[in-house]
Amino acid sequence: MESSIKKAVLPAAGLGTRFLPATKASPKEMLPIVDKPLIQYAVEEAMACGIEDFVMITGKNKRALEDHFDVAYRLEEKLRSSGKDSLLEEINKLNHLNIAFIRQKSPLGLGHAILCAKPFMGDEPFAVILSDDIIDPDYPLLKEMTSIYEKFKAPVIALEEVPQSEVDRYGIIEGKLEGGVYKISDMVEKPSPDKAPSNLAIIGRYILTPDVFEYLENQKPGAGGEIQLTDALKDLVKKRPIYGLLMNGKRYDAGDKLGYLKATVDFALKSPELAEGFKEFLFKKAKTL
Ligand code: UTP
Repeated sequence: MESSIKKAVLPAAGLGTRFLPATKASPKEMLPIVDKPLIQYAVEEAMACGIEDFVMITGKNKRALEDHFDVAYRLEEKLRSSGKDSLLEEINKLNHLNIAFIRQKSPLGLGHAILCAKPFMGDEPFAVILSDDIIDPDYPLLKEMTSIYEKFKAPVIALEEVPQSEVDRYGIIEGKLEGGVYKISDMVEKPSPDKAPSNLAIIGRYILTPDVFEYLENQKPGAGGEIQLTDALKDLVKKRPIYGLLMNGKRYDAGDKLGYLKATVDFALKSPELAEGFKEFLFKKAKTL
């Protein structure tokens, strides 16, 4: 069945403080895993799921994001004249995306970033993809989420089990497993480990319905002084069901240095061009550790 989710919001206006100084003047979302920036993985994941229109939320020092999805005439001419057709094709496919850029004037939080997309979303459900959460491209998380949306016509949130000691880094849900999905009853942003209702953490993939905007508009700053999406969803779940899908694949928190390095190693080991040489290097290296 074809999915009715055709639009995605890509929030990319955060300051990326965990990656300073790299993110002082350039976007975290342009950090590459091997040779592709984080944001491109997110866009490709969405396209594989039938999403056609994108709204990217950007901010100060984020110009490179717009350039990455724009035509690069000189570069393309050079690749064409030197016969580098596969690279040309790779570069070219990014030019044809239907993508709008909105500037979040101040990084007031993820909830506020999503609210910035409201005028462009109409009355349709949409996906939210946080590009610093990299999902193994072989695992169709977003596709599974859209199927759950089609079944219940309700918001769907991706979940991952995290160690109890790490719950204070995430939004955490309370819910009951019913027929393979969690029916969420409550959620809390960054709880202390002794107050967390579970160890089921919200990760960076959501299918949301347009009624979330009304709840975002009424949010006061929460954890970290930011307008939190979790707080809006906590209010929304009192009015309508929200479902959680426990992810059964690999996720990398590429906004964190260690997570970024793990993603780089795993993706390099999957690259036909690099795998052999890189594996040899890793074997030799491991012996010296
Ligand atoms: P993070 O919590 O990872 O924050 O945001 P950050 O600023 O990007 O990084 P650190 O924690 O300072 O290192 C989660 C997602 O929400 C977006 C970010 O771009 C990221 O995709 N975001 C966050 C916004 O778009 N605007 C905001 O005001 C805050």
